[in-house]
Amino acid sequence: MKRHRLREKAFSIWERGTRLLYTWLQRGRFHTWGACSRVSPGLVVSCPWAIAVGGGVTISDHATLNVKDFRTDGRATLVIGDRVYIGRFVHINAWQDVVIEPDVLITHRVLLGDEDHVYDDPSVPIRQQGSKCKGPVRLKAGCWIGTGAAILPNVTIGRNAVVAANAVVTKDVPDHAVVAGNPARVIKQLMPPRAAESERP
Ligand SMILES: CC(C)(COP(=O)(O)OP(=O)(O)OC[C@H]1O[C@@H](n2cnc3c(N)ncnc32)[C@H](O)[C@@H]1OP(=O)(O)O)[C@@H](O)C(=O)NCCC(=O)NCCS
Repeated sequence: MKRHRLREKAFSIWERGTRLLYTWLQRGRFHTWGACSRVSPGLVVSCPWAIAVGGGVTISDHATLNVKDFRTDGRATLVIGDRVYIGRFVHINAWQDVVIEPDVLITHRVLLGDEDHVYDDPSVPIRQQGSKCKGPVRLKAGCWIGTGAAILPNVTIGRNAVVAANAVVTKDVPDHAVVAGNPARVIKQLMPPRAAESERP
């Protein structure tokens, strides 16, 4: 039993140490990196200099931040606010404008992004037609994105809203709403929209 506990302790020190070292190596590559933010090994990232990370952020293992530097104003393409949690195998495409406000909880295997493949020419393989930006994505403060959900381009998720597991969100979600299904529909409204309006700072 004692040997078992010792092994557990050694394992957790090794795990923590690996994460700290990995974070230390990664952080200098980013546009900004806030205090106490951490990233787990296996991150796939492009254009880290176009990603602003706030303080107290967690980016779990095997997340993909597929970012391009298409903005011309010097601001970050992907903004991750303070205390945001990004789960395992989350995939974010940000080519122009994706903002994740503070305290957002993104659970595992979520896809979100502002771009999509072009498929206008039926005679050309879609792979050869490139991609284009289709509109900004914003996850407002405090919302929760359930496992396996997809947030399509040009969508805003409201403040403290809930996106159910495996939902496909094609349209804006009001503040304090719960949406589910494909395409996602409101299944609950936790606070009337008018009250939610007046709650804004
Ligand atoms: C969205 C969610 C929070 C709703 O929970 P809830 O408030 O307890 O809602 P209920 O279970 O009462 O469900 C309300 C209705 O929505 C439906 N519903 C709930 N979740 C759904 C989902 N993911 N997809 C489709 N419909 C769903 C229910 O079937 C029910 O429909 P009905 O009224 O016709 O019976 C929950 O279902 C969910 O998806 N949680 C995300 C889980 C997750 O990803 N966890 C990650 C942890 S790391």
